[in-house]
Amino acid sequence: MTTYNDQLSRYVADLFVKEDAALRAAREDSVKHGLPAISIQPEEGRFLQFVVRASGVKKAVEIGTLGGYSGIWIARGLAPGGKLITLEQSEKHAAVAREHFLRAGVGDRVEVRVGDAHQTLPKVAAEGPFDFCFMDADKSGYDAYLTWALTNVRPGGLIAAHNAFRGGDVLNKRGRDADTDAVRAANERFAREPRLLSTIFPAGDGTVIGVVAG
Ligand SMILES: C[S@@+](CC[C@H](N)C(=O)[O-])C[C@H]1O[C@@H](n2cnc3c(N)ncnc32)[C@H](O)[C@@H]1O
Repeated sequence: MTTYNDQLSRYVADLFVKEDAALRAAREDSVKHGLPAISIQPEEGRFLQFVVRASGVKKAVEIGTLGGYSGIWIARGLAPGGKLITLEQSEKHAAVAREHFLRAGVGDRVEVRVGDAHQTLPKVAAEGPFDFCFMDADKSGYDAYLTWALTNVRPGGLIAAHNAFRGGDVLNKRGRDADTDAVRAANERFAREPRLLSTIFPAGDGTVIGVVAG
């Protein structure tokens, strides 16, 4: 059996994950602007772009924009005429992200909406149904976000959530903290939910992903 490790991850990244200057800026300049260094990893971004492209996503929602790094990957996977609505509670993060979306050439395809996603999602629902929903915000919200996504992502669409591994802490049944417990519960819901066919993409910190039953 092959154990996936840092060297193999680098091998994959070197072959398939081409970050241009705009993507690098979204990752690195966000930190220079004082945003936390908690973007997804390049390999995870490429995975999002791949699944978005492979399933012909036109209407996508992201919960948790930060500096726009994952949003650029998603936007670059969209089908022609597609659109990403990305939700962010921090005005400052949203402003930084808007700059990065413009620099990456996806400003016309991405709309950042500021506010607590728990409040903005019910309004966004009117613009659905969506083809793809990616959650990467407050972990305590994952259960509510998954409930929203199951109602507002079309049959055949995809629902994904980042940090499925929580650095490996999901293996500890006693849980390191409430956020890890929330992620473990979300993973278990993805696994059990009869309307989803799910798995975890195991690179980076793990992305749990399910396709909605048709
Ligand atoms: C892990 S970061 C997102 C990283 C981003 N997806 C990326 O990879 O580039 C989480 C973001 O979610 C935002 N956030 C946290 N709770 C939120 C909420 N309830 N509503 C909207 N945004 C929220 C935070 O301000 C932060 O910018």
